[in-house]
Amino acid sequence: MTGDRPSWAPESIDLDRPNAARIYDYLLGGAANFEQDRVFAEKLLEVMPLARAAARLNRAFLRRAVRFCLDSGIRQFVDVGSGIPTAGNVHEIAQEVDPSARVLYVDNEPVAVTHSELLLKDNPNARAVRGDLTDPEPVLAAPLIDFSQPVAVLMVAVLHFIPDTAHPHEAVARYVSAMAPGSFLVLSHGVENPTLEGREEVGRLYQKSSNPGVSRTPDDIARFFEGLEFVEPGLVWTPEWRPDSPEDVGEHPEASLVFAGVARKP
Ligand SMILES: C[S@@+](CC[C@H](N)C(=O)[O-])C[C@H]1O[C@@H](n2cnc3c(N)ncnc32)[C@H](O)[C@@H]1O
Repeated sequence: MTGDRPSWAPESIDLDRPNAARIYDYLLGGAANFEQDRVFAEKLLEVMPLARAAARLNRAFLRRAVRFCLDSGIRQFVDVGSGIPTAGNVHEIAQEVDPSARVLYVDNEPVAVTHSELLLKDNPNARAVRGDLTDPEPVLAAPLIDFSQPVAVLMVAVLHFIPDTAHPHEAVARYVSAMAPGSFLVLSHGVENPTLEGREEVGRLYQKSSNPGVSRTPDDIARFFEGLEFVEPGLVWTPEWRPDSPEDVGEHPEASLVFAGVARKP
């Protein structure tokens, strides 16, 4: 496998172990993934065919939420667990509205960071750094972002890769405490569903990846927003969050598998 290592794949990564960033990239039709990621994603689609549409709906939520934040006057964004660059990246949406908008991407996966660095090399207002959501201080001290001014912190489809033993609620609370009034938290998260077909197989599959997944109940997801005020419509299935048109919601929004919300710091 290592013989196939392309130039953008840092030596430090284990190409033989599927990884959430690269599996998601494959589901979205990207090319920054390896054999093991593709095999994993195909198995995932076999047991849970909804996964690809769910990834797309999640990504569409992210784009709508970034536009909402821009309309609310936000001009700096921190995207934690940003993933491998794909269509409609945060800086593309933000800088189309205001070229001086600043965007910091943070991910703990080296391929995601290397790709983002390549994409951003001529962009003075956007940066990518390697960092871990559960270690907020280096992110809060990173360049480009002034936490004394309103900021949007994005944690989209990342917290369901962080088990309770790593204290994700405490970590999110630390980001929230650092955010200036008028800031936003943009978050999405896979929802615990005991009756979902394929659920146990998916759990077993992810145990073998470098990011064992963890779904949470709506109440546990809502707790990430403590101290913040939800903007309408609150915490809902991804396609239900301010859809561009009512037809986009479809008859089964729960097939998106993921809850999403945006909340403002008073
Ligand atoms: C499913 S992707 C989501 C990408 C993007 N946020 C989106 O919603 O389109 C999850 C990303 O979270 C990253 N990730 C997982 N655990 C993380 C952690 N503890 N700290 C930072 N990033 C993490 C993975 O590497 C991956 O890129």
